[in-house]
Amino acid sequence: MEIIIQPDSQQASQIAARIIARLVREKPHSVLGFATGNTPLQLYQNLVAVHGDTGLDFSDVTSFNLDEYIGIPPAHPSSFHSYMWAHLFSHINMPKERINIPDGLAGDIPAACRKYEQAIRTAGGIDVQVLGLGTNGHIGFNEPSSSLSSRTRIKTLADDSRLSAGPGFGGQENVPTHVITMGLGTIMDAKMCLLLAFGKKKAAAVAKMVEGPVTAMVPGSVLQMHPRAVIILDKDAAAELKMAYYYNWVHDHKPDWQKY
Ligand code: F6R
Repeated sequence: MEIIIQPDSQQASQIAARIIARLVREKPHSVLGFATGNTPLQLYQNLVAVHGDTGLDFSDVTSFNLDEYIGIPPAHPSSFHSYMWAHLFSHINMPKERINIPDGLAGDIPAACRKYEQAIRTAGGIDVQVLGLGTNGHIGFNEPSSSLSSRTRIKTLADDSRLSAGPGFGGQENVPTHVITMGLGTIMDAKMCLLLAFGKKKAAAVAKMVEGPVTAMVPGSVLQMHPRAVIILDKDAAAELKMAYYYNWVHDHKPDWQKY
């Protein structure tokens, strides 16, 4: 794992945006994996700005989102479809037909999940998967106890996840109980995983994910097994890392060719 600690979430998000922008410039047919939630908002703002300022071209990019709630229509204001259009897709030039988000209204969910996996394979696999981290250690909606080799499937949300989503649904009791999420095995197949985590409330989960054992009880810890996992944190989210000094030293002494 590469751990990058930045003074604040904006500087952290700028690094993430630079990684993605460079990839899209070098490989116009990139396949990007996107996450929703509060964490990637500044990353998406930065990508929109780079698109506006430099004309970064997304016309050949394909995307796959991590997850979607089951049983709510795409137009629901708190669906991940709505989120992605509001924060990214409406502001860049990605063609609609290249955007993939799990269908929370699919009649046959297992078949829809298999189709999603197949579509990722057909696109050539995900080049960079953007991830956030739940306070319970989840990535995607792979809640604690998720199989480390799971594929895209239906999952039941943990209470912490429904609590966090409560405001968007007028209370935790209205949050859907089930989601479709890429599995941990699906995420691990991405060529690069780019996980962002900000704020004090993520510090304990970050420390377990980075410095604790690999365990299904902290699903993000599976990234320790990924050959290219980049974890970008603000100071608060890094607060409980025992080896922060080392991670900072490594980052500060990178050779030029390795800098983002
Ligand atoms: C979102 C997702 C989740 C979030 C995580 C953190 O698509 O899959 O894993 O990344 O719950 O959420 P925020 O960023 O709102 O703290």
